[in-house]
Amino acid sequence: MKLYNLSRVKLNNINPADITISIYGLGKMGLPLAGVFAKHNFKVIGVDINKKTVDSINKGINPVIEEKGLSSLIRKVTKTGFLKATTDGVEASKTSDIKIIIIPIYLDDKNNPDLSLLKDVVKKIGTGLQKGDIVILESTAPANTTLQVIGKMLEKISNLKLNKDFGLAHCPERISSQTAIKDIEGRLCPKIVGGSDLKTTRIAEYLYKKINKRDVISVQNPTVAELVKIWGEVYRDVNIAFANTLYLSCKELGVDAFEVINAANTNPYCRILTPGPGVGGHCIPVYPYFILKENTNNLLLNLSRQINDSMSTHVIYLAKEALKEKNIPLKDANILILGIAYRAGVKEVRKSPGIKIALELNSLSKTVYVNDPQFSKEDIEKLGFKYKEDFTKIDCIIITTGEKAFKKINWSMVKTQVKTKIVIDTKNIINKKALSNLGFVTKRIGYAK
Ligand SMILES: NC(=O)c1ccc[n+]([C@@H]2O[C@H](COP(=O)([O-])OP(=O)(O)OC[C@H]3O[C@@H](n4cnc5c(N)ncnc54)[C@H](O)[C@@H]3O)[C@@H](O)[C@H]2O)c1
Repeated sequence: MKLYNLSRVKLNNINPADITISIYGLGKMGLPLAGVFAKHNFKVIGVDINKKTVDSINKGINPVIEEKGLSSLIRKVTKTGFLKATTDGVEASKTSDIKIIIIPIYLDDKNNPDLSLLKDVVKKIGTGLQKGDIVILESTAPANTTLQVIGKMLEKISNLKLNKDFGLAHCPERISSQTAIKDIEGRLCPKIVGGSDLKTTRIAEYLYKKINKRDVISVQNPTVAELVKIWGEVYRDVNIAFANTLYLSCKELGVDAFEVINAANTNPYCRILTPGPGVGGHCIPVYPYFILKENTNNLLLNLSRQINDSMSTHVIYLAKEALKEKNIPLKDANILILGIAYRAGVKEVRKSPGIKIALELNSLSKTVYVNDPQFSKEDIEKLGFKYKEDFTKIDCIIITTGEKAFKKINWSMVKTQVKTKIVIDTKNIINKKALSNLGFVTKRIGYAK
């Protein structure tokens, strides 16, 4: 059923099963979204260019296996017929009333946002667009992408008029891998919706109120919604850079930064985040560049990026200092990096601090080995690193993610395997005293020693 011209009363009484939603991009974020809408009885057509993904979903098999609860959800909603997948984006657009885009916007090698995947999707949607349709962008995007890029392209391709024939909204996803289903349903925060006009905003409100149990917050237009998402993420990049600066300053004074941060944060006006080995993933370190594209001289954002990126060099400095205490030059040391994902619990390496540290150490140390419970030996070798299962021959262990398995390491056993007893902990997960008692030299981010 086409929604754009429905009255408010009719809209609020509509049965979800009368609405067909096409969702473009069935990846880590798009597939959980498709599953949740289907679970709430909307008819969902999932669209992806990857045929293997589409075939797998149509067989009821979840291709994003690491996402909690997703396998049973996909099994269920494909069995009931509420979710079907296709590679035909034009046909999906023709047969759906609402089209949701949730593909990533990456940076190119000059850190400019690359809109090519998005434009490909918009072309297909535009070709099948009909009067009364609604198009929603969920992907995080630079300011004005929704109205100036998507809106203009849709009008040109379809010969239809925005805010007369169809509506357009930005409703940014604010969810995380591992908790995606619960996040879509409002575990952490309300849904932000911003339509190209009031009618579209109301439709977006109706839609997301069906799945987000917490709340739906409407903002004036899609551009405001874009900025809510981008600045919310940039806040974290800047705050982490602040925490890293605080740590480096405290270290010079011989003071533990964590003690300062924890005590300072007892004031409700103070919310300092955690220092660490850098910021990874395809969100926090990427979105500042969405702003820097237009606002290249933004001192705060540029500096924050530089500070967080330079933490890998600081980790190597800590390793060098620890090795010096054992009279081993860095160039002769065998290093084991524990953690190549950008954070614990995910199998994703985009802008991973562990990888940055490993690459920098490749030319500075004798050998760099890698282990991460999220990745198999083959995965690690495919990424170009040497896999290591045990601790033999190792002079220095560097922990870069807070994986559960790393928290449970039996250091008495490790002590019997390593060549030199050194641990650099960038995630505050070791018990320094216990390791010192075993004879380890330890260095930790967040502490003076
Ligand atoms: N992964 C995360 O933890 C995370 C967290 C928060 C936000 N996000 C954001 O969510 C959005 C989606 O990211 P993701 O992690 O799901 O990406 P992803 O890489 O896991 O999946 C993207 C999917 O889109 C498909 N695709 C690419 N081009 C397409 C096209 N032209 N037509 C149809 N399908 C196409 C790919 O085949 C893939 O299956 C992005 O805006 C991202 O920044 C991701």
